[in-house]
Amino acid sequence: MKKIAIFASGSGSNFQAIVDAISSDVLTAEVSLLVCDRSDAFAIKRAEHHSIPYFSFDPKNYLSKLEYEIDILEELQSRKVDFIVLAGYMRLIGPTLLKEYEGRIVNIHPSLLPAFPGKDAIGQALAAGVKVSGVTVHFVDKGMDTGPIIEQREVLLVEGETKESLQEKIHLVEHQLYPSVLQKLFTMNEVGGSKK
Ligand code: GRF
Repeated sequence: MKKIAIFASGSGSNFQAIVDAISSDVLTAEVSLLVCDRSDAFAIKRAEHHSIPYFSFDPKNYLSKLEYEIDILEELQSRKVDFIVLAGYMRLIGPTLLKEYEGRIVNIHPSLLPAFPGKDAIGQALAAGVKVSGVTVHFVDKGMDTGPIIEQREVLLVEGETKESLQEKIHLVEHQLYPSVLQKLFTMNEVGGSKK
């Protein structure tokens, strides 16, 4: 069974959806660790509630990304983590983790990439006046939301759509899509013969 580490910076509703999908056998995996760059993130409360270990760090206490990623890597390796699942983690992944986990880091983004990468994708979509936005699950590379796309789902915008209403619709889609994409990915990975 794949051991995953979920990286989050905020509410962690996607973290919750993944934990719930595992409980209800929609996803076969073990959440071995939550990695969080904010000690006040609600995601940590969720991890505590489910007795999932977490590693929380303050980037300000480190000289550089290199330094904190070395600490993260140590946490991941000591728990034999197979996959890194980014879920609202507001930082770019650096070379240390990219090298060790090449092809085994995924992210979920609230737009149809390559449209609206980076921060506030929902606000960007509204400002652009699009009628269709959505959700993308993709592999992570060194760029900002630029890695190869795995799956996408459309979300339609209605008249009078607000940031809150669109975010709610996007979250509903994310909570279903992310566990199902992970399940496919992990199954393929096993069939491919790599026991990593
Ligand atoms: C999600 O919309 C995700 O697409 C984006 O950040 C948000 C995280 O939400 N990367 P949550 O913390 O999982 O509730």
